Amino acid sequence: MTKKKIFRIIIVLIIVMQFFQTDKSKPPIEEKNTFAAEANPPQEILTALKDACYDCHSYETKYPWYTYVAPVSFWIRGHIKGGRGKLNFSTFGEMNEKDQKHLMHECAEMIEVGHMPPKGYVRLHNEAYIEETTKTVLIEWFNKNS
Ligand code: HEC
Repeated sequence: MTKKKIFRIIIVLIIVMQFFQTDKSKPPIEEKNTFAAEANPPQEILTALKDACYDCHSYETKYPWYTYVAPVSFWIRGHIKGGRGKLNFSTFGEMNEKDQKHLMHECAEMIEVGHMPPKGYVRLHNEAYIEETTKTVLIEWFNKNS
């Protein structure tokens, strides 16, 4: 096969891929079960988490244009599924207290070691960058409540 032919096949594949859109439906949110209602965090904490975590860990995901472009869309969908599976701030109140505390402890840990929010994500989302002072506030609050 010539290089030109391979290139053409790749272009066709990328075009065909676009017909497979990922599921971006937003499940309804029950206000009383949200993290905000259940844990009653100070506004500063809630704002920081919404900016840095909610795209992957809640039903309040924002979808910029590139999330509609395959294969990026497939990859992002995987991240959101993985993130919501471990921790979903929109259904936080449905968990028992022990699991809630465990997750809040994990949140403190993930933020402290810099594993969350993922670095690649922060590079694309400036608003997800957490200042050192805010980081300290978050870690202390999560530890106090877990
Ligand atoms: C780009 C998507 C994304 C963002 C943004 C994100 N996470 Fe995650 N998070 C994931 C994925 C995927 C997993 C599951 C795989 C893993 O642990 O790496 C996860 C796992 C976790 C876990 C569970 C760890 C475990 O294994 O039990 C916690 C706790 C967590 N994230 C907290 C946070 C917090 C707090 C923020 C914001 C400061 C955040 N995440 C931002 C994608 C994300």
